[in-house]
This record gives sequence, structure tokens and C-alpha cells, in this order.
Amino acid sequence: MVVMFSLYAVFALLVGFALAISDELAAELGYPAGVDVWCGKAYRATNASFEPGGWLEAPTLSSTPLMDLSIRPRTNLYLASEKYASFLIDAPISYMHGSAYTNASFNKETNITSAFTDLFIDISVVESGLDLISGSNVTVNTTNNELGFSLSGLTARFEPYEIVITGASGDGAQFYTSTTQLYYIPERTDGGSVTKVDNLYGGLLVQDYLTNSTAWTPLFPYTYYTSWDGWLELSTDNIKIFKDYGYNIIHIVPNEGLANEAFNFTELDTFLDIMDELELWLMFDMRWTYKNLTSVEMQVNRLKARKSMLLYYTGDEPDGQVDALNATKITYDLIKSLDPWHPVSLCLNCHNYYFANYTSGADIIMTDPYPIAVNTSFSVQYDTVCNTTYGCCGCDDCSGDFEDVSERLDLIKLYQEYLGLPQKPQWGVPQAFGNETFWARYPTEQEEIVMNMLFVNHGAKGIAMWDFPTEPGIANITGQLSKVLTSSAISSFLLGSFEQAMDVSGLQRVDAASWTVGNNTLVSVVSKNYVGTAANISIALPTPASGVSQVLWGSGWTVSGNTLTKVGMDALEVDIFVIS
Ligand SMILES: *[C@@H]1O[C@H](CO)[C@@H](O)[C@H](O)[C@H]1NC(C)=O
Ligand SMILES: *[C@@H]1O[C@H](CO)[C@@H](O)[C@H](O)[C@H]1NC(C)=O
Ligand SMILES: *[C@@H]1O[C@H](CO)[C@@H](O)[C@H](O)[C@H]1NC(C)=O
Ligand SMILES: *[C@@H]1O[C@H](CO)[C@@H](O)[C@H](O)[C@H]1NC(C)=O
Ligand SMILES: *[C@@H]1O[C@H](CO)[C@@H](O)[C@H](O)[C@H]1NC(C)=O
Ligand SMILES: *[C@@H]1O[C@H](CO)[C@@H](O)[C@H](O)[C@H]1NC(C)=O
Ligand SMILES: *[C@@H]1O[C@H](CO)[C@@H](O)[C@H](O)[C@H]1NC(C)=O
Ligand SMILES: *[C@@H]1O[C@H](CO)[C@@H](O)[C@H](O)[C@H]1NC(C)=O
Ligand SMILES: *[C@@H]1O[C@H](CO)[C@@H](O)[C@H](O)[C@H]1NC(C)=O
Ligand SMILES: *[C@@H]1O[C@H](CO)[C@@H](O)[C@H](O)[C@H]1NC(C)=O
Ligand SMILES: *[C@@H]1O[C@H](CO)[C@@H](O)[C@H](O)[C@H]1NC(C)=O
Ligand SMILES: *[C@@H]1O[C@H](CO)[C@@H](O)[C@H](O)[C@H]1NC(C)=O
Repeated sequence: MVVMFSLYAVFALLVGFALAISDELAAELGYPAGVDVWCGKAYRATNASFEPGGWLEAPTLSSTPLMDLSIRPRTNLYLASEKYASFLIDAPISYMHGSAYTNASFNKETNITSAFTDLFIDISVVESGLDLISGSNVTVNTTNNELGFSLSGLTARFEPYEIVITGASGDGAQFYTSTTQLYYIPERTDGGSVTKVDNLYGGLLVQDYLTNSTAWTPLFPYTYYTSWDGWLELSTDNIKIFKDYGYNIIHIVPNEGLANEAFNFTELDTFLDIMDELELWLMFDMRWTYKNLTSVEMQVNRLKARKSMLLYYTGDEPDGQVDALNATKITYDLIKSLDPWHPVSLCLNCHNYYFANYTSGADIIMTDPYPIAVNTSFSVQYDTVCNTTYGCCGCDDCSGDFEDVSERLDLIKLYQEYLGLPQKPQWGVPQAFGNETFWARYPTEQEEIVMNMLFVNHGAKGIAMWDFPTEPGIANITGQLSKVLTSSAISSFLLGSFEQAMDVSGLQRVDAASWTVGNNTLVSVVSKNYVGTAANISIALPTPASGVSQVLWGSGWTVSGNTLTKVGMDALEVDIFVIS
């Protein structure tokens, strides 16, 4: 089975490499015609290097402070049955985006000039002028201020409401404005499920349909890209086998070999019926067909009312493949028009290539840097060097170490800051394959957990590994990790707070993060070192704690006041625990 699937994986990973982009697109991007490219780079020894372009640069910073007022709804949609909603308001002092801010406000009644620390805000509906929030204020240089409002003045409909916020200093002399869209949409009438995206902590919110619950519960999705024709399709029993590992959603990779490059949908229905019964959520992949709008429409209409439908997946490495820059957004708009109740995801492969264009077509951004047993400076597939303008080494502009994973996630956050966009949730795609093409071997079980937790430590709100079936040991250990991360006790930290990076002393290359909810803090410590140490290691805590209350993975640490300590760490040790 594994061998069979390995062959499939080679095909899946290489198919894009065989296709040159169209002459029109090459001309639009300024490339020579007929050259095979990956991430915009020529990679065949017979082609010369040229500038790929599409590189997102840091904006020029202002020398004076700016007020960067912005607003977004707490969740990406509200349903007709909901009576209340809330907005998140950011009013940071920035040097990157916004307009002039002077730290002074004049009071006409007293003739006194004081600091400008309160921003007075009004929020209204553009088309009707209806006030949703008025006479409120937020503190200057704060973010994620949540203000509730009643939906009673609005009618649920498919078109979003255009919302405007105005913010002013007390004297009215400094004035700012910003807009957002509010989706207040009709209920489903077809029995289908609804998935919300939490715009604060980045989690998905679902309703447990098996108990007819109307409560919105955070879901930390943990899964593999799963081969349809190479594995799942072989038996409906595989659904139960997959779920029994602990994975809570399934991402099914369609069959490119079929005439419709997707599924025999009659057969798929048999599987989806079982998934509906088990509440095993579906991540529906249209990688081979997402640019064919006729096909997308047919597929979305066929899938959208499924109980187990969680979210869509369109472009698989559209940036690597150099799909048309507007492709993901065109398909996104079509999907939203057919099914506004489920989010859309895609996976980027490149380090920095037309990020704004490809991500404009997604609610959730995934990334798949595969750093294990790969030569990132010389392509073993194409016999060329790899650098920022040339070559394909399997991991774009990578260094071939664990840092590729965390740096890539940090960069995606940074790119969204550069663009002045609200952060979309990010999911990680850890490497769970090898012994093929660019990758000399599979990750070890320990390496697998290190990659998984580096994604989580850097803010990933979901994990989908490439790919299943994988090696039995990897399937086992990730099954164990999935049971930890998807338990409501732990996902309530990951999806109910912001991750905080922590400084580690006494050992290099240890990545630590924490999540605090109430009086409890989840801590995750990941050693990227291939050798163990007997050194004393310590981590400073932001606030004192009294002790370790639960060890979920690895071993616990000792708490004394506001320091965590441990004597020695094993090679690639990962510790996950809760302190109180
Ligand atoms: C404020 O200044 C104005 C103009 O100089 C003056 O007319 C007014 O009386 C002052 N008010 C107070 C409270 O000092
Ligand atoms: C800002 O709003 C809060 C909460 O409504 C209120 O208590 C406070 O007085 C307001 N501040 C100012 C300066 O108006
Ligand atoms: C605004 O907040 C940031 C981050 O919390 C802080 O570093 C910065 O000094 C603050 N700026 C001002 C002008 O208060
Ligand atoms: C959920 O609702 C359906 C339809 O109203 C009903 O048939 C079913 O028994 C309910 N399930 C539970 C667990 O309440
Ligand atoms: C699709 O699957 C169904 C049910 O398994 C089967 O009866 C049918 O022949 C298949 N269709 C094609 C075109 O293979
Ligand atoms: C698009 O998909 C439809 C439905 O599967 C198919 O009939 C058509 O041939 C496809 N078009 C292209 C250009 O592949
Ligand atoms: C999308 O981009 C392609 C290629 O760059 C172009 O031919 C097409 O007209 C664009 N489509 C739309 C709807 O803008
Ligand atoms: C790509 O994105 C940039 C930045 O948002 C935009 O200015 C440009 O028009 C987009 N190009 C296409 C072809 O969509
Ligand atoms: C990348 O390598 C190619 C081929 O050796 C070379 O022509 C090009 O100048 C290099 N680019 C950079 C940025 O070093
Ligand atoms: C690696 O792949 C080759 C060719 O597919 C296969 O013969 C070999 O058994 C695999 N080795 C391991 C360790 O999986
Ligand atoms: C996987 O876990 C099962 C049950 O714990 C165990 O029996 C089996 O040996 C494990 N397999 C591997 C390859 O680790
Ligand atoms: C947190 O701890 C404090 C002091 O022990 C206690 O008063 C408070 O109730 C606790 N809060 C929660 C949410 O448990």
C-alpha cells in the first residue's frame, strides 16, 4: 500500500513540473515563452536564469507615527437566527500603514491640551446610514477591542453589508476611517452544516450536528492529505481506520486519472454517507479542476449540503505551478456565490511569489515547506543549482532544516502585515513522506512531531500532513498527537488565545510557546537539536505559576515562581504541558 501510494505521490508532486505556462501568461509575467518554471524560476539545465518577480517587499516606513484604524467582524459570517454580533477594532500606532497621528487633543471647554489616548468611534452601515455602534471609544495603540452590537436592524441576505468605522480625537481635529464587510446570511434550508472562521484567534467554529447542537465549538483540524485512488477508495472500512487514529477531519486528494479529474461521485457518496454518520469532517479538494468553473460549480453544488462538509480546498501550490494570478480569486468568488457557509483554503509552496494575488482567493492559507533529507542548494532532480532566481529543489528558498517550517509561517504573517490586511488563519502541512524525488528518506517519528509542533508554536490553527498512507510509525505517533491537539481541553488554548513566543536559556535551537486562558497556561517546548544535552535549561514565564498541572507529551518541567526549569533535554525532545 505504501509503495503504491509513493508512486502516486511522485506523480502528484511532479505533474506541475511537466507543464509550461501559456505564452500569454509568460508574456504578462515578463518571462521568455516556453520555459518550464516553478515559483517563477526556470529549473531545467537547458534554460537560463531570469528574474521571477512577484517578490513582496517591506513597505517604506513612515518617519512619524500613524494611526492604523481597522475593523473586522468577530466571525466571518453570522446567520439569520443570530441576534447579536461583534466587531474587532484595531487602533495601533504604526509606522507602516495608516494616517498622521499627533499625540495631542485640545479641550475647548478648559482650553487644555492633553494626550490623545481615547479614540471616539462610530460604526454604521454604508448603504442605509444605520448606526450599529455609536458614542463608544477605544484606547489608542490597542488591538482586538471587541464591541458587540444588535443585528436587529439588519435583514439577513447573501450580499455582505458594507460597514464603515470613523474614529476621532476628542477635539475632532484628528479623524480616521476604515471599512469592512459584514456577512449576515440566511439559514441553510437544505440540512447542510455551517463552518465559521473566528477572526480573533483564527480557529474554525462548528456545530455538533450529531447532537443537534446550536453552540459554536472551536475545532482544531488535524489530518493528512489522503490518497483517494491509492488508499481510501479501496474500502469504506478505511474511513473508520482513519478516524480511529484520532484524526478529526479528512482531506481527500482527488484522482487526476479520471476523465473528470476528480471522483466517481456516486462512489464518493457512499464514503461521504459514512463520514456524515461518524462526523468525520471533510476538506474537499479540487486541485486538478479548480480553474474549470463548470467543474467547480458541479462539485460545489454536489457537496455543499453535506453534514460533514467542513471547508473547500482549491489551488494546490498555485504559486509553484504559476497558475494565472487571478485564478484563485475567480474560483473563490464562484464558491462563495454557491456556498457562502463554508470557508475556502489553498496551499502555497513558494517562499515569496505573488503572495497577495494567490491568497486573495482564500480564507485559510496553508504552507508546505518540506525540510527533511532534502538538498536545497543543488537539485538532485534537475541537476542545477538552486537560488532565489533559479532551480527547483523541492523546498523553495529553504535551508533544509527545521527553521524552514517556523520561518515560513512567520513570513506569511509578515506578508499580511506588509499588505495591511487582517491576518487570515494559517495551517501547516508537515512532511510525512520521503524516499522519493527531492527527499532521500521519510522523516523519523521524532522529526515528524518536531515539525508538527513548530507549526503549532508559530500559530498554525490546523495541521494537514502530506500524505496518507505514510509509514506506520509516523501514522501511529501523529495519531497520538492528534488526540492531544484536538481534545477540547487543549484546543481551547490553541483556539482561545494568542500564542506567545518564549525565550529559552541554556540550550540553542529550542522553540517554546505558550497560550494562556484564565489561570492556566499551555506550554510547548520543541528541541531542534539532533543530540541530547545534560545542560540546565530555563524559560522565563510572563507571569508566575505554582506548578505543572498536566503533562500531555514528553516530560514536565519544574516551575519556580516565574521560571520553568529542566535538567537536560533529549535529542528532538518535545514537551507539552499545562501550568497553573
Ligand atoms: C479659552 O480660550 C478662549 C480664546 O482664547 C477664551 O475666550 C476662553 O475664555 C477660554 N476658556 C477658558 C475656560 O479658559
Ligand atoms: C470610553 O468608553 C467607556 C466604556 O463605554 C466609558 O466607561 C468611558 O468613560 C469612555 N471614555 C471616555 C473618555 O469617554
Ligand atoms: C504601541 O504599542 C506597542 C506594542 O504594544 C509598543 O511597542 C509601542 O511603544 C506603543 N507605542 C506608543 C506610541 O505608545
Ligand atoms: C436531531 O434532530 C433530528 C431532526 O429534527 C431528529 O430526528 C434527531 O433525533 C435529533 N437528534 C438528537 C440527538 O437530538
Ligand atoms: C461509479 O461508481 C459506481 C458505484 O461504485 C459504479 O456502479 C459505476 O460503474 C462507477 N462509474 C464509473 C464511470 O466508473
Ligand atoms: C471542465 O469540466 C467539465 C465538467 O467536468 C468538462 O466537461 C470540461 O471538459 C472541462 N473543461 C476543460 C477545459 O477541461
Ligand atoms: C485572468 O487572468 C488571465 C491571464 O492572466 C486573463 O487572460 C483573464 O482575462 C483574467 N480573467 C479575468 C476575469 O480577469
Ligand atoms: C496582483 O495583486 C496586486 C496587489 O494586490 C494587484 O495590484 C494586481 O492587480 C494583482 N494582479 C492580478 C493580475 O490580479
Ligand atoms: C542563480 O543561479 C543561476 C545559474 O547558476 C545564475 O545564473 C544566477 O545568477 C543565480 N542567481 C542568483 C540570485 O545568485
Ligand atoms: C524507497 O523507494 C524505492 C523505490 O520506490 C523502494 O524500492 C524502496 O523499498 C524504498 N525504501 C524505503 C526504505 O522505503
Ligand atoms: C503502532 O501502534 C500499535 C498500537 O499501539 C502497535 O501495536 C504497533 O506496533 C505500532 N506500530 C508501529 C510501526 O509503531
Ligand atoms: C485565578 O486565580 C485567582 C487567585 O487564585 C482566583 O481568585 C480566580 O478565581 C482564578 N480565576 C479563574 C478563572 O479560575
